[in-house]
Amino acid sequence: MDRIRIRGGRQLKGEIRISGSKNASLPLMVASLLTDRKLTLHNVPRLADITTMIQLLQQHGVTVDAAPGENGHAHGTTLTLQAGKIASTTAPYDIVRKMRASVLVLGPLLAREGLARVSLPGGCAIGARPVDLHIAGLKAMGAEIDIDGGYMVARAPQGLRGARYTFPKVSVGATENLMMAAALAKGTTVLDNAAREPEIADLAECLIAMGVPVAGAGTETLTIEGVSALKEATHSVISDRIETGTYAMAVAMTAGDIELIGGRLDLIESAVQTLRSAGVTLEQTARGLRVHRTNGALQGVDVMTEPFPGFPTDLQAQMMALMTRAEGASMITETVFESRFMHVPELSRMGANVTIHHESALVRGVPKLRGAEVMATDLRASVSLAIAALAAEGDTTLHRVYHLDRGYERLEEKLSACGADIERLKG
Ligand code: EPZ
Repeated sequence: MDRIRIRGGRQLKGEIRISGSKNASLPLMVASLLTDRKLTLHNVPRLADITTMIQLLQQHGVTVDAAPGENGHAHGTTLTLQAGKIASTTAPYDIVRKMRASVLVLGPLLAREGLARVSLPGGCAIGARPVDLHIAGLKAMGAEIDIDGGYMVARAPQGLRGARYTFPKVSVGATENLMMAAALAKGTTVLDNAAREPEIADLAECLIAMGVPVAGAGTETLTIEGVSALKEATHSVISDRIETGTYAMAVAMTAGDIELIGGRLDLIESAVQTLRSAGVTLEQTARGLRVHRTNGALQGVDVMTEPFPGFPTDLQAQMMALMTRAEGASMITETVFESRFMHVPELSRMGANVTIHHESALVRGVPKLRGAEVMATDLRASVSLAIAALAAEGDTTLHRVYHLDRGYERLEEKLSACGADIERLKG
């Protein structure tokens, strides 16, 4: 298994190109199941999760053609997906357990075929992560869903019908699943307390290009008019706001100065406010986002994760890594997932001073971190260890790098091009 070795103490300087968003790309790829027409997606990142989604879609009968990016998207992949015929309505355990976003096929398969059998994903390193909201929403649209042998078995022999559904809790994935199901349902679907994440707006934009009227993206209420057939479309994936925030924190950690090409301040406003309070300068430029911290120490700030537009849970671990070196204390509260502090024991092994009280972690800044052998537990936890390593004394070796490869495209290349001392150790 690959490892990554980082020697801390180098400032990051230069520029980093931000990739297309992983969490936008995955539902967009699934949208191809809604139609027998082609869906072309530009600016898709090259990541392990994208490969897993391609495998899942291929076994459902989708042909997938991947080409190097064009039309100004020279750094991503252009995927052309076409689900001429659905070969299988089953999403098997072997794929779903690897990647939870696989459950997104439930709504589209059910809407198109009247039948879907999707494995329950099971446990996860960051919390229980149930799928009850996906199920309840589809039931409101007329689906019958049973659990059998670890699978959700969903039927809608007469097709799905538009409905009004209020989410009892904000869920990105359930909102996406229901939006896609509603595209082929009879009549209008209104989703209240819907997720407002930029990835939802990106999916809405793509569905509109495919001929589905969707209104209200970015607000709490989404209205989707079902259509009898969707049309061929082309869509360009938004830039990855979590990758943007992650590199912004890495730059802040090393007191560096970087332009994040393609990064968008408006997609991470809450994180930007938090970073500014901590003493980091961020400004939108013509090509992206400039981040620098050239004078003064980092200040401890309190953070609470919340659904968008709040501070993203997917940046919580990275922010904590940054706060380990701040002056003063920082209270970091995780409200989205119940056990997303798996990075804490590993950060502590590098000398961080963090105490967990239920859903909050009290981080007391320390003058120095020391390199160590550390273990990645999930995607964002692993990158938080890389951020800590960039400012640690000596070498850090990060094990289980496959977590990083799920969501960060060429991390070591991007960082070493900006002066980091980082290398991948094969095998
Ligand atoms: C998406 O996961 C992202 N994944 C996650 O990113 C992200 O952390 C999360 O949204 C929150 O922003 C993708 O987009 C592929 P949720 P998702 O449904 O859709 C509870 C990363 O690191 N819930 O919004 O699975 C759930 O347990 C990943 O890139 C239910 O209770 O998240 C959680 O507490 C990790 N019942 C909360 O809602 C349900 O049926 C929010 O989860 C569904 C969710």
